[in-house]
Amino acid sequence: MSASHLPPTPRISPATAAAFGPEFVWGVATSAFQIEGANATDGRGPSIWDTFCRQPGVIADGSDGSIACDHYHRLEQDLDLIASLGVDAYRFSVAWPRVQPLGQGAWNPAGLAFYDRLVDGLLARGIQPYLTLNHWDLPEALQTEGGWVNRATVGHFVDYARGIARHFGDRVGSITTHNEPWVIAMLGHETGVFAPGVRHRASAIQVAHHLLLSHGLALQALRADGCRALLGIVLNLAPIHPASAKAADQQVARIEDGRLLRWFMDPLFRACYPEDVVAWLGSDAPQIEPGDLAAIATPLDFLGVNYYSRSVVSADGPVDAGTLGHALTEMGWEVYPEGLTELLQRLHQDYPVPPLYVTENGGAFQDQHIGERVADPERCDYIARHIEAVALAIRRGVPMAGYMVWSLLDNFEWASGYQKRFGIVHVDYSTQQRTCKDSALWYRDFLRSQRPGRAA
Ligand code: FCB
Repeated sequence: MSASHLPPTPRISPATAAAFGPEFVWGVATSAFQIEGANATDGRGPSIWDTFCRQPGVIADGSDGSIACDHYHRLEQDLDLIASLGVDAYRFSVAWPRVQPLGQGAWNPAGLAFYDRLVDGLLARGIQPYLTLNHWDLPEALQTEGGWVNRATVGHFVDYARGIARHFGDRVGSITTHNEPWVIAMLGHETGVFAPGVRHRASAIQVAHHLLLSHGLALQALRADGCRALLGIVLNLAPIHPASAKAADQQVARIEDGRLLRWFMDPLFRACYPEDVVAWLGSDAPQIEPGDLAAIATPLDFLGVNYYSRSVVSADGPVDAGTLGHALTEMGWEVYPEGLTELLQRLHQDYPVPPLYVTENGGAFQDQHIGERVADPERCDYIARHIEAVALAIRRGVPMAGYMVWSLLDNFEWASGYQKRFGIVHVDYSTQQRTCKDSALWYRDFLRSQRPGRAA
């Protein structure tokens, strides 16, 4: 492949560039298990993902997170890399088993010290730390007691949240309770393709309820403690389109929308679960105790939305994204930026939402190595088109506060292992060398144009 075969670098329209105010937060995102490695170092306890990776056949390339991007040992270099992009914020997660190895009780000073260096290193570089408490790596010790199926985990999470907020709360811009509770519940406990690998629908629904409850109770506890960081949750959301106007297809789309979006948005913003989904679940509906729904609806300072694609469904099941006429990513996900505008507008119209962030957006694509250069024209195009989609939502009145690319680095993509690369920075896993792809340089240049006068 030579450079002359590459498509031109995408340009952002003047209308888009003008849509983002000076307060708009631009960032990049990662999560602990996907990049840190060092999963038995300095007192870190095992997480459910360490255990899950050891099951034969569950990770596409048989890999695990034991080394990943070795971020734990390359923190300073990675902080410099983040700063070189000129972002306003860095979204990362704390590995609960690194700071509280058993998920309750004793704290691990070495684990806290790592995140002290991370947070202070970001602040020293003028970057806002955006901290996520739970990006899926539950301490294994809690899983042996039932994990998120067990209501006792709610209390342990609130204690963990309170400990982290007391330690870091005055130094981070925001604290997110959970990343993508739908994924933890459904992929972790219904289909079982993610940790902890349970396949039991009633458990999955109970897990979703416990995640939401622990979120609401954690917000109340942190506010009672006087935590100054903005507090919120991050949901994976998407438009669910029916394959046709047939009533059966419409009905399936409505239920799937209920399971993905309304199951989380209704309790968070209306203190109730959607009745059609409760009826559809029958005896798998969750056990709810008095006061739970009011706690879940504790007001949010922000809502994070992770957006990658839409779904098209029919009464016969999900429609193959390859038949929809749009480009696909390496994950087989349809490139559909219109869906992001549609989704953000719908959230704004249907719910009394606080400021919204796109907390993840990006794609796995094949990189092209041209000498020292790593060209990724499809990712550049993907990111540019989704930034255009956010701008359109802003112009239509949606209260958008920020946008974060997933991901800073190529990393451990869960059940796909290291085969799928989402990074705007390439990682050579044999040397751990980082190389900015064209998309990282494009994003840096775009941010410079948004922030004339800002160093980086
Ligand atoms: C999201 C996850 C994130 C990453 C992207 C591709 O569901 O939050 O960790 O794996 O998908």
